[in-house]
Amino acid sequence: MNPLLDALRRIVGANHVLTDGDLSAYEQDWRKRARGKALAVVRPGNTSEVAAVVKACAQAGASIVPQGGNTSMVVGAVPDASGTQLVLSLQRMNTVRAVDAANLTVTADAGCVLQNLQEAADRAGYLFPLSLAAEGSCTIGGNLGTNAGGTQVVRYGNARDLCLGLEVVTAQGEVWDGLSGLRKDNTGYDLRDLFIGSEGTLGIITAATLKLYPRPTVRLTAWAALPSLDAAVALLGLAHTHLGAGLTGFEVMGQFALSLVGRHMPQLRVPFLGNPAAPYCVLIENSDHESEAHARAQFERLLELALAQGCASDAVVAESLAQARQLWHIRESIPLAQAEEGLNIKHDISIPVSRIPAFCATTDALLQREIPGVRLVNFGHLGDGNLHYNVQAPEGGDAAAFLRDREAQVNTLVFDSVLAFGGSISAEHGIGSLKVDKLPHYKSPVALGLMRAIKQALDPQGILNPGRVVRG
Ligand code: FAD
Ligand code: MLT
Ligand code: ZN
Repeated sequence: MNPLLDALRRIVGANHVLTDGDLSAYEQDWRKRARGKALAVVRPGNTSEVAAVVKACAQAGASIVPQGGNTSMVVGAVPDASGTQLVLSLQRMNTVRAVDAANLTVTADAGCVLQNLQEAADRAGYLFPLSLAAEGSCTIGGNLGTNAGGTQVVRYGNARDLCLGLEVVTAQGEVWDGLSGLRKDNTGYDLRDLFIGSEGTLGIITAATLKLYPRPTVRLTAWAALPSLDAAVALLGLAHTHLGAGLTGFEVMGQFALSLVGRHMPQLRVPFLGNPAAPYCVLIENSDHESEAHARAQFERLLELALAQGCASDAVVAESLAQARQLWHIRESIPLAQAEEGLNIKHDISIPVSRIPAFCATTDALLQREIPGVRLVNFGHLGDGNLHYNVQAPEGGDAAAFLRDREAQVNTLVFDSVLAFGGSISAEHGIGSLKVDKLPHYKSPVALGLMRAIKQALDPQGILNPGRVVRG
């Protein structure tokens, strides 16, 4: 008999306190980097139940790991191996509460799956622009908890930019109702922005009020072959100039990243695959509120200029929605293809766009010098200066051994280079537990001191997602 588990069963019902059977969906992270052991998985059905669960845990001094879709890239949402932490899954709280058309907002429970929210917005005649490959399983709470980015940031911003209000259960089990939906509110410290990106370490997000946008009339997608990363940066500049606010996506993909899609998803036809004149490809999206003809004319002009100026060596524009979806599907399949290839070292970095080519030239050379034959799975949201600069063992090498023997060395090399180029070691995935011990090396002592003071003030018992973001 465990008095805490008994109390939790009384709060959420015995069916929603899971202790037996296969709990791997809650205990194993998406990348298979860590497998924990939960005391239990608790699945509250509403905000009051979340508050009561947190109060009971606070009384018992038990740690809580908030979890949405468990798609974290940095081992942020699974329990440790102690068997003492509770996973608090928000998945049952999945209602879209209300669309306020005049206010251009939607309010939804934190456990709402992103794709379901996009579809609800679409049914109401609006666009909710947050978009990422995990959208079929990640949740709004997880998106806000990590301040997720994705593929539309160049136009609409990160999850933070899309959020107008939050409802949060504090570490003491109190409910803060901040679901105002106001676009202006300067009444003191911004609590909403404190919780966004805090990775479940300061409070549990139970609902959010989010911005809606008018739906574009048409979204056109192009795929271009490029001779270099310098060319990609030049093409991005042209796209900003010629598409203006229509530029809603600008993704870069290295040939090796695309070759993994070709290898593990042979049913997908990857344009310019293996073309030696195209070490990089980019996917560009143009969203237009006028007409398809207008959007195509804009795209044609852009691509003509790109070819004339040598920023692109070839390009295709999707002829139909189905073709556009296929191109996006190729891009979004890279993480899965990379996972199929084996365990890998991920770096989700941001660098000023102008410095990305020099960063890659320098860091590629350093890595090849230290580990000859190492393979770089390089892709990402170039429009936001966000690269997924990932490192895979040399061909035929043992992936697990590579991780064990080389991860620390590779991380130090890449992160030192990121620092030298004025970048950040986490652009959109967060810190989780994978980067928690790296942060003190790459963040200023003043910033870390402020972060620790905030953690201490909001969660003095240290029960919310301990060991993530900052250590006590
Ligand atoms: P989880 O993984 O469950 O949790 C993530 C973090 O948020 C954890 O620290 C957790 O404790 C915390 N958390 C979860 N719910 C709450 C809550 N209600 N309140 C407080 N804290 C909470 N990320 C990007 O930014 N851009 C991408 O393009 C992108 N693409 C991805 C593609 C794939 C295939 C995968 C697997 C992941 C990708 N991710 C991306 C990473 C991931 O951060 C996002 O998928 C998503 O934001 C996480 O949502 P989730 O519900 O799965 O959160
Ligand atoms: C992406 O952009 O596809 C994601 O951030 C996932 C990844 O980095 O693998
Ligand atoms: Zn990404």
